[in-house]
Amino acid sequence: MASAPGNLFFAGEHAVVYGRPAIVTSIDRRAVARLSPREDDMVILNSVGLGIAEMRINGENKNGPKELEVILDFIDSIVVKHNVETGFEITIESQVPIGSGMSSSTAVLSAILHEMNLRLELGLDKKEYFDMIFPFQERIHGGKASGSEIYSSVFGGFHWLEKSGDVMVGRKIKNLKIPVVVCDTRVKAPTKLTVGYHVPSLIDRYPQLVEKAWDEIEAITKEMKAAIEKGDIEKIGELMNENHKLLQSLKLSHPKLDDCIEEALKAGALGAKMSGGGWGGIMFAICYPEDQEKIANALKKTRGEVITSNIGVEGLRDD
Ligand code: MEV
Repeated sequence: MASAPGNLFFAGEHAVVYGRPAIVTSIDRRAVARLSPREDDMVILNSVGLGIAEMRINGENKNGPKELEVILDFIDSIVVKHNVETGFEITIESQVPIGSGMSSSTAVLSAILHEMNLRLELGLDKKEYFDMIFPFQERIHGGKASGSEIYSSVFGGFHWLEKSGDVMVGRKIKNLKIPVVVCDTRVKAPTKLTVGYHVPSLIDRYPQLVEKAWDEIEAITKEMKAAIEKGDIEKIGELMNENHKLLQSLKLSHPKLDDCIEEALKAGALGAKMSGGGWGGIMFAICYPEDQEKIANALKKTRGEVITSNIGVEGLRDD
């Protein structure tokens, strides 16, 4: 089977959709895909959690829950591109909660593509994955996406994401070994609501204000890269707080996210912010090792789900 990690944004979410840079790291919450061949011409997608979808290998008779439609179309696109002729079953299971801001969709699409590449011997290089996944990522995010998380899920570690012309380019930066505490607010928010609906509505009404916020987020992201390279975790924390305030001003946070962030900071975190689409999902805090437990305990009291995991971990894996 193949697995891919979820992701956290240290800086730049949303702004990155509009051509600004971002810093994303992988987190050791993984999506797993397992392929087994079939004798007939059926493709079965079995999601532990979302149910079963199916189609014929020629793309006919697609059927299954709405949530799996885009994943089945993704599998279909690979089948067509590589002339796969016999049926198979793919089982997917994810430790990355859906709608949590840890890019569960990217982790699932990346794990599926890697598993199909390995088991069906498609001969793809990982560098080709971005272009294959991106159109589906865009669909999942409501018609707009940066594709940042694809780099992180595929290659792992810390990435600096920046547009070069129309193309998103991910470059690995220093891999920071630093304690984090992640807390899922349990408020589910599909990224397509903030990316595809809220932010475009802000841009229609307040174009200059949003542009100014993107400028400020870009400056923070650049400073963050320098701080990561220096290993200056106090500065990183400060910049996370500033980035969160700007996302708040764009009405992308949520009362429960702010509640958790305040508690983490009170308990000694060096910085804390939401991550990803917002309107719910997770927040994360960075801290000195000796404060990690205290912060986790403070977050448990908010009744969110505290997730202890490592960051900057390996990307795709053949398990
Ligand atoms: C969502 O995980 C991250 C956003 O920046 C959207 C994107 O980059 O496609 C909000």
